[in-house]
Amino acid sequence: MAELVSGFSKLTKEEKIEWIAFNFLKENTNAREILSLYWNSDEQLQQLHDDFIENTISNYYMPFGVAPNFVINGRLYTIPMAIEESSVVAAASLVAKFWSDKGGFKTEVINTVKVGQVHFMYEGNTSDLQSYFKFKKEDLIAATQDITKNMRKRGGGILNIELRDKTDDLENYYQLHVTFETKDSMGANFINSCLEVMAEEFKKDDIQIVMSILSNYVPNCLVKASVSCEVEKLHPTDGALFAKKMKQAVEIANVEPHRAVTHNKGVMNGIDAVVIATGNDFRAVEAGVHAYAAKSGTYKSLTSCKIEDGVFTFSIEIPLALGTVGGLTSTHPLSKLSLEMLHNPSAKELMQIVAVAGLAQNYAALRALTTTGIQEGHMKMHLVNILNQLEASAEEKEKVTVALKGQIVSYSGVAEVLEKIRA
Ligand code: MEV
Repeated sequence: MAELVSGFSKLTKEEKIEWIAFNFLKENTNAREILSLYWNSDEQLQQLHDDFIENTISNYYMPFGVAPNFVINGRLYTIPMAIEESSVVAAASLVAKFWSDKGGFKTEVINTVKVGQVHFMYEGNTSDLQSYFKFKKEDLIAATQDITKNMRKRGGGILNIELRDKTDDLENYYQLHVTFETKDSMGANFINSCLEVMAEEFKKDDIQIVMSILSNYVPNCLVKASVSCEVEKLHPTDGALFAKKMKQAVEIANVEPHRAVTHNKGVMNGIDAVVIATGNDFRAVEAGVHAYAAKSGTYKSLTSCKIEDGVFTFSIEIPLALGTVGGLTSTHPLSKLSLEMLHNPSAKELMQIVAVAGLAQNYAALRALTTTGIQEGHMKMHLVNILNQLEASAEEKEKVTVALKGQIVSYSGVAEVLEKIRA
């Protein structure tokens, strides 16, 4: 059995790999080769990636694709997407083209407020705490002046500090609930720094600070996106039926959490891919979005659908705390390039683009699910992946694709056809 290791982070990359190979990859004689295959020959670029995290031993590639033809508020976009799921970019591209001659996507940022909290325990009298808070409020702001100076110059900063009594939920629990405007930065470091300084300023003998941290639940950092057209334009033969089924699909997700989770997973296929491509924190976005989907107490669809006077409208309302400056957005060369491809958006503009990617993906999924079924589109890409796994040549790929046209694709089925061709 492998033993616990000390000082692992101090080892060189080669030493780390050697240790892992010796302890955990004994049977894989190619381990070092596989890991080094993904190193970048540009040493500076590799160093950049090494420095993103601790104990980097290689790079993990994900396809970086683009979905062209998105018309958003009259402007044309090619949306970069980093995702491994085979059908996502193809679906986004198809939907983008479909809506491009029907007015495109319309978007609107509703608000951009971010939240941070100082959680603390206080056993004394609530009214004494309220008086102390009133007395200290200006000092809390003053204590953060140095940190907020640049942000204030850019029009952001601390919006408000509230004392919240949470003792009904947990004995002696209170919080400073702080709201922020962080302009084009996601603001995590800025918010956390402000909170820690405030906590230090606020604490006293009878106030025990538990923790100070931003919240990834940002229901007031909200964006809306929608598409709309006459029902007849939705489908070549039966627009009314198509519209009705799309609406029913959303209604089902609104009353059935099992379906809603999968429905929203489809939304996140689009959202995460753009969030990752632009160097934003997809875990933060995921956490915040799903909490928002459950804000009524029941987990529901993030998208809405209505049919009014023969007009079909499909829309999304979603909280997105994103940045276009700072963090990975400016240090990862591909994130920088993604943002450039998107006309170097402000954080507000990026919120709109990302919401559109989510809406498009959900539209694509529901369109497939309520018409042909999801497997038709998936099968094509699934087949490519299996053929690659079986190391098929270009000619073999073509022959197998023709042989399996319209059929259900399985690994064994493809292998069988390929074997026959090869024989
Ligand atoms: C697959 O990644 C996403 C879907 O399951 C979404 C949905 O069911 O709406 C197709």
